Amino acid sequence: MSEQAADILLREQTPGTGGAEGARPFVVAVSSGKGGVGKSVIAANLALALALKQRRVLLWDGDFDYPNAHILFGVEPRGRANDVYSGRIKLDAALHSLNPTLDLLAGKTGGTTKDAPPAQLRETLDALGRRGYDVVVIDNAAGSQDGTIQLCVLADLSIVVATDEPTSIVDAYGLIKILKAHSREGALGLLVNNIIDRDDADDVAKKVNLATEKFLDLHIPLVGFVPYDRMVRQSIVSQAPLIEQARDSEAAQAIELTAATLDRVLAESRR
Ligand SMILES: Nc1ncnc2c1ncn2[C@@H]1O[C@H](COP(=O)(O)OP(=O)(O)OP(=O)(O)O)[C@@H](O)[C@H]1O
Ligand SMILES: [Mg+2]
Repeated sequence: MSEQAADILLREQTPGTGGAEGARPFVVAVSSGKGGVGKSVIAANLALALALKQRRVLLWDGDFDYPNAHILFGVEPRGRANDVYSGRIKLDAALHSLNPTLDLLAGKTGGTTKDAPPAQLRETLDALGRRGYDVVVIDNAAGSQDGTIQLCVLADLSIVVATDEPTSIVDAYGLIKILKAHSREGALGLLVNNIIDRDDADDVAKKVNLATEKFLDLHIPLVGFVPYDRMVRQSIVSQAPLIEQARDSEAAQAIELTAATLDRVLAESRR
């Protein structure tokens, strides 16, 4: 599927977020069935790519067990999302500025989804809306714990990340099935990571859609693909995001293409 086709499909599926004045942010949840498929790397760099387009972006670490977003940026924010959910600190005390247009709401290792009941997550999102962000990118945990699903329910777009391995494809289908069972207004998109080229991505999208169309009556548009790139590991080791460290790398450019698609969808939803 071309970028343009993904764009059109997304636009058709994605509810508007209202006018610019007092609009709530466009919320993108980056999720997966299987763990370790690249959600954190993609969420962090998508957030940064959108911020570099002068969008006001909040990267929200929604991984309750092992949050990683702050590690990818090499920062140790004093306030964490868990303390906000519990009411120990105010949201403002937990927002960590990464650059003039990008803030981070980091997580605390060893939490549990029970720390964040749906009402708290919704309240946090509402409070973020009042801070004037254009986009909230959520780095979700793998799987389908309650809090993870709730963050997808709150999202305007849930991006399901999968690789070309059968385990990842089957688990992506499993997550999509669970998401379909929850009443959501947001759209669903597929992002294929760690592949060689576009043909591999199309192949994975075909496999996922064979199942979702047959059993769920759902078509999931491909919103992007990111090739395997050893610069990704390099960026994690040096704790500086890929787009900052190696903007010309194949993976960084692929993530920027996806960010450009999201940027257009956001512009449309604000009309
Ligand atoms: N496009 C890529 N090219 C090369 N390596 C990659 C790519 N994407 C991810 N990786 C590697 O995969 C590993 C897992 O990435 P990441 O931590 O982002 O996955 P995750 O889905 O967030 O994992 P978890 O489910 O544990 O939260 C990273 O250590 C990274 O080295
Ligand atoms: Mg992760």
